[in-house]
Amino acid sequence: MRSRALVLAATAAAAAILTWRLVSAPDVREDVPPEFAGRRNPLAGPEAIAAGDRLFHANCATCHGEQADGRGPAAAGLIPPPTDFRGGPVLAQHSDAYLFYRVTTGKPGTAMPSFHGALGDSERWQVIAYLRSLATAAR
Ligand code: HEC
Repeated sequence: MRSRALVLAATAAAAAILTWRLVSAPDVREDVPPEFAGRRNPLAGPEAIAAGDRLFHANCATCHGEQADGRGPAAAGLIPPPTDFRGGPVLAQHSDAYLFYRVTTGKPGTAMPSFHGALGDSERWQVIAYLRSLATAAR
C-alpha cells in the first residue's frame, strides 16, 4: 500500500511539473542547433550599428525592406513573407543565438538565404546589432 501511495504521489508531482512547463513555455520555439546555442552578440555600440545599417541595406533590404518592415521590392509573392522587424514581435522574442543562426544558415521552407560565406561572422553580428537598434528605437 505504501509503495502505491508513493507511485501516486510521484505521478501527481510529474503531472504538476509537466503542466507548469507547458504553461510557462514561451510562444516561440527556438530550435537552435548546439553550435549556435547560447551565443551572444559580441558587438554593440554606434559603430557596429552603423556598419550593420549599411550591410542591411546592401544585403537584406530587397526582401526585408528599406525600413526593415518586410516590404522590400523582392518581397512580392513570397510565402511566407520576409519578416517585419519593425512592427512584429520577432526581435523581442528571439535570442541573439537564434538570429545569428538564421542569418548564417538561412531558413528552410522560406526564401531566407544563408549568408555564411557572403558575410563574415562580424558582419552578421553587425547586422544583428542594427536590427536590435530598431527595436530600441521603437520603444
Ligand atoms: C530573398 C529574400 C530575403 C533576403 C535577401 C533576406 N531575407 Fe531574411 N527572410 C526572408 C524570408 C522570406 C524569411 C522567412 C520569414 C518567416 O519565416 O516568417 C526571412 C527570415 C529571416 C529571419 C528569421 C525570422 C524568424 O522569425 O524566423 C531573420 C533573422 C532574417 N530573415 C534576417 C535577414 C538578414 C539580416 C538579411 C540580410 C543579411 C536577410 N534576412 C536577407 C527573406 C529574405
